[in-house]
Amino acid sequence: MLWKRLSLGLLLIVLGGLAACKEAAVSNPVGERVFRTRCASCHGREGEKVLSPDRPALQGSRLPVERIKNAVREGVPPRMPKTPMEEDTLQFLAEYVHQL
Ligand code: HEC
Repeated sequence: MLWKRLSLGLLLIVLGGLAACKEAAVSNPVGERVFRTRCASCHGREGEKVLSPDRPALQGSRLPVERIKNAVREGVPPRMPKTPMEEDTLQFLAEYVHQL
């Protein structure tokens, strides 16, 4: 039946579109770029490096966004320097680090 085939095709197109939207919402190119240029030299490209015996790697640690923002604003004693940046850039960065 042509009608059935058409509606199935349409359904697949709609579902594909939804999946693409979800993908776009999750990726965060600004956060990724800032992380790679300003944080990855110490923390590793994917945040995988463990820098201190009493702190886990950023990757998988799921620190709260506010805590990450604070670490960047204030630095983390004794070895992480503060990194000044625009508030909206910091928000993208912190959300990116949170989901690593
Ligand atoms: C010069 C190296 C260096 C750079 C650059 C750096 N960090 Fe760090 N970071 C550290 C070290 C080292 C620690 C662990 C603190 C310590 O024990 O000295 C740390 C700790 C952290 C923590 C854990 C804070 C907590 O509350 O447990 C977060 C989050 C973090 N860094 C995020 C970032 C982000 C985001 C950037 C990029 C803006 C960044 N860091 C850049 C070295 C660095």
